Amino acid sequence: MEIVDIQKIIRPHLVDVKTYEAMEAPEALAKKSGIPESEIIKLNGNENPYGGSQKALDAVAKTPLHIYPDPTQTNMRIALSGYTGMPSENIVVGSGADELIDLIFRLFISEGDKILDCEPTFGMYSFCARVAGGEITLVQRDEQFDINVPSVLNSIDDKTKVIFVTSPNNPTGNIATESQVTDLLSTGLLVVVDEAYYEFSGQTVQHLISQNENLIVLRTMSKWAGLAGLRVGYGIMHGKLAKYFMDIKPPYNVNIAAEAALIASLEDVNYLLSNVEKIIGERERMFELINNLPRVKAWPSSGNYLMCEFEKNEAQRVYVELAAKGIFVRNFNSPRLGDCFRIAIGTASDTDKLIGAMKIIV
Ligand SMILES: Cc1ncc(COP(=O)(O)O)c(C=O)c1O
Repeated sequence: MEIVDIQKIIRPHLVDVKTYEAMEAPEALAKKSGIPESEIIKLNGNENPYGGSQKALDAVAKTPLHIYPDPTQTNMRIALSGYTGMPSENIVVGSGADELIDLIFRLFISEGDKILDCEPTFGMYSFCARVAGGEITLVQRDEQFDINVPSVLNSIDDKTKVIFVTSPNNPTGNIATESQVTDLLSTGLLVVVDEAYYEFSGQTVQHLISQNENLIVLRTMSKWAGLAGLRVGYGIMHGKLAKYFMDIKPPYNVNIAAEAALIASLEDVNYLLSNVEKIIGERERMFELINNLPRVKAWPSSGNYLMCEFEKNEAQRVYVELAAKGIFVRNFNSPRLGDCFRIAIGTASDTDKLIGAMKIIV
């Protein structure tokens, strides 16, 4: 039988698609550095150093795994309505905020349509655009990494469908102001404000949703609630738009353990927010400590991470030397962030070890 050349039947725009540069798993990092997994300091994924709530762990342990989850997401939407103060029909839950980003592409982007990204930013929007066969307009943020609204407005053309705004921005930590978002909404395009790190900033534009059918706010349980491994996030949007998402999503998209953990976490909000407070305090302490080191600058951040900028060509050397000591941060290969890396905020002991190492290396 003749061997089929599978490339001939793959959709042409996906044959050489550039994949997402995801971070490596802890076991891979351990293997690479030769340091036991239990000794690794993993600060490359903006994960929560305190883990999830005990109530969530208990709820997961009791979950009947042989039953499909509720496709209408009723209990999760009610719980999230209580937490966010938004009506449950305005909420759609996904397998991570990542799934909602993917669903946005399914709903809005046909081949050749454009999305607009405010660079540097989270890589998932452009990755999903590549997979969808969309085009990406990259609009550079200003020197302070704030959104350049006039430049965004000038870059829109009749193929542009969606503007992505990350607030706090990953990896730079900037907030998009309400007036910036309002200016973008007035274009009539879909504006996605990704508030994955909302709990660390306390700033949201969710109150603009009732007046703006073209606004989606994204949130996640991965960061503040420590559920990154379970994959659960949500979108808040006008009820009319939420109905479309509910209609096109895979029916059982959020697994039953994630559902149980989300609901239990929202019954333990005070505990989880006390961890958020600790992380914010640690962020400010690390900010001072790094800025007291020579030859490196930490940028101010409203997230659970700090972006550090080094002298020319130094970031990669410091990254490699930290990794050799079992301390893993996130580096970038984009031209604008080539001299930077991002450090997730861990425990006080993680900070002390990191700073100790940086004092020797930098
Ligand atoms: C800005 C931003 N949005 C979304 C996500 C993905 O969140 P989730 O884990 O819910 O898929 C991340 C994860 O790092 C992020 O940084």
